[in-house]
Amino acid sequence: MDRRHWPGSKLDPRMIRSRRSFFRLLGPLMGGFGVVACGQRVRSGLPQGSPPPARAQTLPPTPACGNGEPTPAQTAGPFFTPNSPQRNSLIEPGMAGSPMVLTGQVLSTNCVPVANALVDFWHTNDAGEYDNRGYSLRGHQYTDAEGRYRLETIVPGIYPGRTRHFHVKAQAANQPVLTTQLYFPGEALNEQDFLFQPELLMAVNNTGGKQAAFNFVLNA
Ligand SMILES: [Fe+2]
Repeated sequence: MDRRHWPGSKLDPRMIRSRRSFFRLLGPLMGGFGVVACGQRVRSGLPQGSPPPARAQTLPPTPACGNGEPTPAQTAGPFFTPNSPQRNSLIEPGMAGSPMVLTGQVLSTNCVPVANALVDFWHTNDAGEYDNRGYSLRGHQYTDAEGRYRLETIVPGIYPGRTRHFHVKAQAANQPVLTTQLYFPGEALNEQDFLFQPELLMAVNNTGGKQAAFNFVLNA
């Protein structure tokens, strides 16, 4: 398995495991919060300043994170370049294409957000070409304390034999790398693509600019 050096990381896998146990123990104590999906918490509907409920409420069990399975792995293909720059936006002045924003979280199979996870994206330009000499449309970032990432980029073009897609590597600190690809819903070429998997479809909203969302689930 491919492992990537984590500059400055102090995370230890044992800490991650113990943090998972910590969240399990903490769950019944979180009276003011409801667990809604994949570890995301929202405040209850009580107005600010309301007294706490007289008796502890029974919360529903934490839902499974998707089907409890990690995000499917796919080939990196021949166009991955290591050591991409760290950046949240791949858009450069004068770059052709339609801007879009991709957001989501990196989660464990127990739906615990994975902080400081590496997320490394690469994809083609608007004309379906990879930059194999430099780092155009290549970049990595680290998730925040809630496991969130945000990528500003352009909609990739297509090239012969493939439907529209992003390539990505996601990795919790000191854990194996997940290499996979993300797909766009509604693409005519999806069904003809030999690698396309519906589990890897992003949720896409075209209202007010293209916004896409995808949560990565790691065996972390
Ligand atoms: Fe590709």
